[in-house]
Amino acid sequence: MEIKISPSILSADFWELGKQISSVERAGAPYLHIDVMDGVFVPNISFGLTLVQSIRKYTNIVFDVHLMISKPELYIERFIKAGADIITFHAEAAQNASECIELIKSRGKRAGMALSPGTGAEAVMPYLDKLDMVLCMTVEPGYGGQKYMQDIEKKISTIREAGGERIDIQVDGGITKDNVYRPIKAGANVIVAGTAVFCGEIEKNIKELTEKCGL
Ligand code: DX5
Ligand code: ZN
Repeated sequence: MEIKISPSILSADFWELGKQISSVERAGAPYLHIDVMDGVFVPNISFGLTLVQSIRKYTNIVFDVHLMISKPELYIERFIKAGADIITFHAEAAQNASECIELIKSRGKRAGMALSPGTGAEAVMPYLDKLDMVLCMTVEPGYGGQKYMQDIEKKISTIREAGGERIDIQVDGGITKDNVYRPIKAGANVIVAGTAVFCGEIEKNIKELTEKCGL
């Protein structure tokens, strides 16, 4: 399967954000991972609609928007208008997951459902045929720079087995050059990395991570 890297701007230096996104593009990463946190669903606040809308004017990179917010159904439409290409909402936060997926798909965008570490694979099974992506969190959502949870690999394998090659499986949290082979071996094909990309030289980090993905 094609492996894709999705650098998370949560770990970017916001003074340099434009330049850093240009570096991500130059390194050839296909996606930009945008972590939206509301201080309710997760104990942290990041950024939101205004940022997405603002950076959309300057880049065509695929915006991979990870909504860590409660009641995602209330905001999906606005994130699409702001420029999101992929919208991933949390299974634990959605009041009506089918409605979220339909809303995203009806606007011609790609729909993802995220599972926090404590949520089992069964939560995603009823929706697997309609989803474009499943995000298996490999840390508790909320912060960058945490430790990768190996336990999640069983869940990744289960979802890959059920979904086959059609579905994208994204992993997010604690991924480094040294451990990226692990989720890939389990069946993941979209790799989010924050700290591992934005700490140090961005282009060099992406190139090294890409090599370690066997790309
Ligand atoms: C955590 C976010 C992640 C985070 C990953 O809640 O969803 O996308 O930025 O950061 P690292 O790669 O540093 O674990
Ligand atoms: Zn994320």
